[in-house]
Order: sequence, then C-alpha cells, then structure tokens
Amino acid sequence: MPRVSLPITTERLVLRTLLPRDVDDVLAYRSQPDVVRYIPGDPRDREQVADMVAHYGTAGLIDEKRAHLTLAVDRGGRVIGDVMLAFNGPDGADGRQCELGWVFTPDVQGQGYATEAARALLKVAFSELGVHRVWAQLDGENTASARLCERLGMQREAYLVQGSWFKEQWTDLAIYAIRADEWSAEDPS
Ligand SMILES: CC(C)(COP(=O)(O)OP(=O)(O)OC[C@H]1O[C@@H](n2cnc3c(N)ncnc32)[C@H](O)[C@@H]1OP(=O)(O)O)[C@@H](O)C(=O)NCCC(=O)NCCS
Repeated sequence: MPRVSLPITTERLVLRTLLPRDVDDVLAYRSQPDVVRYIPGDPRDREQVADMVAHYGTAGLIDEKRAHLTLAVDRGGRVIGDVMLAFNGPDGADGRQCELGWVFTPDVQGQGYATEAARALLKVAFSELGVHRVWAQLDGENTASARLCERLGMQREAYLVQGSWFKEQWTDLAIYAIRADEWSAEDPS
C-alpha cells in the first residue's frame, strides 16, 4: 500500500497529520459559512471538527479503507488550512488518479499559502505515489479556486452548466486536471 512520508515541508509551511490540539484552529475556519460555501457539508461545530480531526489523523498510509489523505497546513504552529488528496475516482484506491482539495482560513488568504501547499501535494502525488492524473472539481462561481488551479498548471477540462445539485440548488461544475507529463514541465523544483 502506498505511504506518504510525513511531514511534508515547504518554504513556509509544514503539511502534517491533524492532531487533537488542532481542533480550535480548524474550527475557526470550518465553522464559517463563507468558507464552506463551495465545499460539501454545513459549517461544523466543535464536536464535528473533533470527529474530523480524529478521522483524518493519518500516518500517511493510503489503502482501500483510507483512500484519503487530509493534512493540516501548519504555519509556525498554527493550522491555517487543510488540503486533501482523495483516491475516490472510478478506479478506486489502487488507481492512478486522485482528487486534490483545499480550504484555508480567510485571514491568511492572498499570500500564496494554498498554492504552496497544493504544489507540495502535487509533487507527492506525482513523484512519490506515481499518480498519472490529479483533478479538482469546483463550483463554477469559485473563482479563487479556479485561479489556484491555473497557478498549479492545471487545465480546465470541462465546465458543466448546472451539472451539479449542490446545497439544494443546481450549480455549474468545473473540472480541472493536470497529468504527470504536464506537471514535470511545470514543477519549478
Ligand atoms: C480556494 C482558496 C484556498 C484560495 O485561497 P487564495 O488565498 O486565493 O490562494 P493562495 O493562498 O494560493 O494565494 C493566492 C493569491 O495570493 C497572491 N499571492 C501573494 N503572494 C503569493 C505567492 N508567494 N505565491 C502565490 N500567490 C501569491 C496571488 O496573487 C493570489 O491572489 P489573486 O487570487 O488575487 O490573484 C480559498 O479561497 C479558500 O480556502 N476558499 C474556501 C474553501 C474552498 O472554496 N475550497 C475549494 C473547494 S473546490
């Protein structure tokens, strides 16, 4: 089974497993309606965040039971967001494609932290896990995420007009992706 070496260190950030002491930091952003507007689920309360932290605690192992790697983005000891790689596509956990996702606390946005963290996860996906293609699905109105995808070198592959029933309404769905051969050309390291 693939295992990701943790923590992942970037210039300004550490991507690491979520710990019980992170609940306050995660609650600070996951409880905000604006932050979760484009991600599944309602704003979370403390108990739900504690469950999430317990559920996503990981030693980096990705297998059929845990086809999900959700990591805390730690900046100087504070969790400012979380990022995920999910092997939940049609070919399952042993497949060669995965979905990338992100959520960051509003007070740190606009400084490139999401780009830095997502770029590090792309590197893990391609060079450590040997993934063929990484994709992301976005609400058509989520322009901050679309710009992030573009900074990562992802291409918009599809735009489904009212293609998603999300939060009790029809919404547009954009699919972005990058393949391993394209990423090699993009990766600055
Ligand atoms: C999507 C989300 C992570 C994007 O956050 P963000 O702050 O725009 O992204 P980054 O941290 O990469 O910062 C990029 C911005 O900082 C600027 N920036 C400043 N320093 C930078 C640096 N060193 N590197 C890159 N960008 C930098 C960029 O120009 C960019 O600004 P722009 O979008 O106005 O052009 C954030 O809006 C979010 O968490 N949203 C809520 C959750 C959500 O919707 N998740 C996605 C569901 S699909």
